[in-house]
Amino acid sequence: MKKEILRFLRETEGYVSGQQLCDHLGVSRTAVWKVIQKLMEEGYQIEAVRNKGYRLTESPDILGEAELSSIRKTRWLGSSIYFYQEIDSTNTQAKRLAEEGAPHGSVVVAEVQTGGRGRRGRNWVSAGGSGIWFSLLLRPEILPDQASMLTLVAAMAVTKAIRRVTSLDAMIKWPNDVVLEGKKVCGILTELSAQIDFVNHIIVGIGINVRRQEFPPELEKVATALEQERQLHVDRASLLGKVLEEFEFYYEKYLCTLDVSLFREEYQELLVNYGRQIQVLDPSGAYEGVARGINERGELLVACDRGLRAVNSGEVSVRGIYGYT
Ligand code: BTN
Repeated sequence: MKKEILRFLRETEGYVSGQQLCDHLGVSRTAVWKVIQKLMEEGYQIEAVRNKGYRLTESPDILGEAELSSIRKTRWLGSSIYFYQEIDSTNTQAKRLAEEGAPHGSVVVAEVQTGGRGRRGRNWVSAGGSGIWFSLLLRPEILPDQASMLTLVAAMAVTKAIRRVTSLDAMIKWPNDVVLEGKKVCGILTELSAQIDFVNHIIVGIGINVRRQEFPPELEKVATALEQERQLHVDRASLLGKVLEEFEFYYEKYLCTLDVSLFREEYQELLVNYGRQIQVLDPSGAYEGVARGINERGELLVACDRGLRAVNSGEVSVRGIYGYT
């Protein structure tokens, strides 16, 4: 009932009368008042005026289930939201939930991750309140080798959402990162559970650094946060809501063709590597070239002395010659 009341308050201009809430939810005035009190205890500022009703004036900086569900505008993504104040890793938890049968489109969010995981076995610093740490559980009917393109869908969604919510010039560093002013602001960890020709589930884990923070010395030059680059305040719940909307949009484009052709051009416009000299860290030998965009399969096209090579995200990572991008 909490999320219905929150949604009703959010969607109504001016005051909502107690009677309207009772009629809408089919409960007593006392029951409504109890929920309003609970919301106020959680930090929601709700004006209660005799003969007028209730008006939501401010929401606290929380990512709880009721908050996220009440702002959700997606059709299927996030219809189940699992929120944890503290968890080891939202990806690990999403995997556990997937094995217990959690549905396609579930979203797992945590305020704190005690064992946040990055790519290649690295840690992901995930302190409370400083960012948005979440995972999407997907059960698409695709082949395992089509799964890595979901990382591109996620990067596209995060970049678009950041641009829409903050008007910062976020860009994509193929394939897993979103960058601001040449520094990483978001990382994506896509994990696949599959048999040879069948996908059980895919977990797309996304970490967005939001608040100004001190990064460990080894990350200081390459990592940033949305509020670090410019004086602004980012509402984490709204940003997460927007990422879900954008992800659903680009995911459906991806499903139409099972490749990225329907948003390839848009992606390339946001690609920070485009036209840059890069180094490809291929396990069979590093080489240099100029990034020339992506193909329909989401592979990075690199012009090098052996011609135009298509680089698959699963195998390599890329670095700028003169720095991280
Ligand atoms: C990387 O850039 O190395 C990927 C970082 C991915 C971090 C996110 S935070 C939410 C989700 N849970 C994790 O343990 N990792 C991902």
